Amino acid sequence: MSARILDGKAIAAAIESEVASAVQDLEKRLGLTPRLCVVLVGENPASQVYVRNKARAAGRVGIRSEIIRLPETSCTADVRRQVEALDADSDVDGILVQLPLPRDVDEAEVMGRLDADKDVDGLTAVNMGRLLLGTNPWAPCTPAGVMEILRRSDIPVEGKKVTIVGRSNIVGKPLALLMLRAHATVTLCHTRTANLEEETRRADILVAAAGRTALLGARHISPGTTVIDIGINRVTSRQEAENFFAGNPRRLEQFERNGSALVGDVHPAEAQECAGAITPVPGGVGPLTVAMLLLNTVDAARRRRTAARR
Ligand code: GUN
Repeated sequence: MSARILDGKAIAAAIESEVASAVQDLEKRLGLTPRLCVVLVGENPASQVYVRNKARAAGRVGIRSEIIRLPETSCTADVRRQVEALDADSDVDGILVQLPLPRDVDEAEVMGRLDADKDVDGLTAVNMGRLLLGTNPWAPCTPAGVMEILRRSDIPVEGKKVTIVGRSNIVGKPLALLMLRAHATVTLCHTRTANLEEETRRADILVAAAGRTALLGARHISPGTTVIDIGINRVTSRQEAENFFAGNPRRLEQFERNGSALVGDVHPAEAQECAGAITPVPGGVGPLTVAMLLLNTVDAARRRRTAARR
């Protein structure tokens, strides 16, 4: 069997065109252009790429965006002051603080200062609480993107067994809440889960968000399962690449050309054989994370600015 590929790039492109129309509509009706500010602290190479992608995507749909770079040596008070300035700026609709922050910056202290109504990432304590209660205006971008891929691919969630591997605040925990709200039966696994294979093999929908290269393979996936791979890991070993891309000459060639390749938390060759559907890495959930950020930013702008007129 060969798994159906869930094309995140195509789904994200469709969402981007919807967001672009919504931006035009806001301009026409209310005379406003949403503005997103992304705060990047330090030099984390992956974060630099993610932040650049977010700003570029914002530009494509007509959202004003800027990246505010603070040095690696910034202290908690420096980052907090930056966030407070953006909170106070009435022309800013959305604020995103790219994570992880440098080790010496207190993440909880910084996120605690972020205005929940501008928190387009949905990661503040207030928005996490709203998510738990079901009163959140929008959801964290990656989990929201997972729900959107499933919805737009006509893969039902209601009544299904969903197993999530990974309990991070950014993905695992909020995704479990969104799945519960969509009437799934949810199992949340982590590094100390006993008999992981037993849990994952029960799943109708299996989500890998553990941050470990190819953690899940054939032995974890029952035939026909929908597999959502949230991991993004760089592989530089040729031997590993030959194993992960067995039977996929195109990816092997790309590896040879670039000297590295991206692999998720799921073994791509093994999942291709036994899953019913899979999100590829790259080109699966990643583009959706960005698209949902754009959607959240437009929503935040509309809510905030129409509330201000009431
Ligand atoms: N780092 C990795 N993913 C994310 C994300 O979705 N939002 C933020 N703020 N930081 C991240």
